[in-house]
Amino acid sequence: MTPECAPLVKTGGLGDVSASLPAALARLGVDMKILLPGYPSVLTAVPQARERARIPADGAFPASRILEAAGPAGVPLLILECPPLYERNGGPYQDEQGEDWPDNALRFGLLSRVAALVGSHACPLPWRAQVVHCNDWQTGLAPVYLAFAQPPRAASLFTIHNISYQGIFAPELAVELGLPPASFSPEGVEYYGKLCFLKAALYYADAMTTVSPTHAREIQTEELGFGMHGLLAKRRDSLSGILNGIDTELWDPSADPLIARRYDIHTLPAKIENKRSLQASMELARDDKVPLLGIVSRLAPQKGVDLLVQIAATLIGLPAQIAIQGVGEGLLQRELLALARAHPGRIAVRIGFNEPLAHGIEAGADIFLMPSRFEPCGLNQMYSQRYGTPPVVRATGGLLDSVVDFSPATLADGTATGFVFDGGAADLLAAIERACSVYRARTTWRDLQRNGMSKDFGWNSSAERYLALYRRIARV
Ligand code: ADP
Ligand code: GLC
Repeated sequence: MTPECAPLVKTGGLGDVSASLPAALARLGVDMKILLPGYPSVLTAVPQARERARIPADGAFPASRILEAAGPAGVPLLILECPPLYERNGGPYQDEQGEDWPDNALRFGLLSRVAALVGSHACPLPWRAQVVHCNDWQTGLAPVYLAFAQPPRAASLFTIHNISYQGIFAPELAVELGLPPASFSPEGVEYYGKLCFLKAALYYADAMTTVSPTHAREIQTEELGFGMHGLLAKRRDSLSGILNGIDTELWDPSADPLIARRYDIHTLPAKIENKRSLQASMELARDDKVPLLGIVSRLAPQKGVDLLVQIAATLIGLPAQIAIQGVGEGLLQRELLALARAHPGRIAVRIGFNEPLAHGIEAGADIFLMPSRFEPCGLNQMYSQRYGTPPVVRATGGLLDSVVDFSPATLADGTATGFVFDGGAADLLAAIERACSVYRARTTWRDLQRNGMSKDFGWNSSAERYLALYRRIARV
């Protein structure tokens, strides 16, 4: 179960993973379905969805229906249709002004409740889940409802994609959402007197994963545990890190319909056409030689794009060009737009969510930047390696697990794929300078590009690890 699933609804990597992991598991023969809310974008994308069950109103929860339709790579979608909760303009979590929906507890409480129902003996479908795989805080109450359900019931696996979003609400809501009074305690769903969806999951889930091995260690520390480190350290035997894979068909420079010119490891010189096209479409000066730095990112403090703002003026003097696409915090958006206005032709910024441009930047940039403060996994650094656009990344989480820093040794043994730095803006600048100097050494650069392009970022081995975990916890 998931609050987003690409291409139907996506705000970040969770949307990508919620489509590509089920597809990979289905290829391994897992009989699975994806449960997600019936937002308007989902309902319009699958008009052929058929009713499978009606769920009556219950306390604060309005009546809802479960619809079924074919989803990514043929994996069935179970769409939770509930017009008063999900059918509105705006995003999945926020309104058009960027404010959280005031009834998010109810919206995602219902999603969690129905997921638990699908894994319980009372399941209204002719199919019952043995494992309910929950993703991020929006699904956090499902392990609680399951823990208190009559047996037989499904096991719960909770995957932490982003521990900094926790779903914290007024304590009174615990009653409204039908949580057993016994669960509202520090040994349960309570977090400093409030109801916390994430904490609920971390307490009740049968097993937990996060999306890279390094991040599984990081979240047990005070620095990156966002208040949950104590509980996670206590439950460390039930926690593991499984690196995300990517959809290697959707993100394939040799077959990508969204880029100006397709290329592969043997036709790398053709990549320049994508750079020219990106320079033209983002109104950057046409210049084949200048290194073009690309960013595609949610504009949240997590992503460290503010570090780039601090050094942007120095960067263009290297010289370099910068192409940024993102959406998020108002102040950062304004700062980026001001930079672009101050440096026309050298810094280009596009605010908004735009899938084709994201592909265009991956293919057209020379170097991809991800200076994240923390990064549970990160997908763009994998996309960029596959597109021959070596990334500059901060030494954290999944970035550490998926990028090998350039050095004479890693170049010699063919493992170097990018540039890893630790620290703040000055260190980011030094890493970009390092990348730009290698960029000028053409044959070395080609080697670096080829190393990244030939790496296997597919789901195969990680999907097998999920399957092994499902088997370990499944109840019959
Ligand atoms: P996160 O989930 O933390 O945002 P990831 O690197 O895991 O980070 O995934 C981000 C995904 O969202 C990628 O597929 C990326 O291309 C996409 N993305 C982020 N911002 C935008 C945007 N403004 N327009 C298009 N795609 C975006
Ligand atoms: C989150 C994380 C990101 C991860 C994605 C998919 O949004 O911020 O690092 O790649 O989820 O798991």
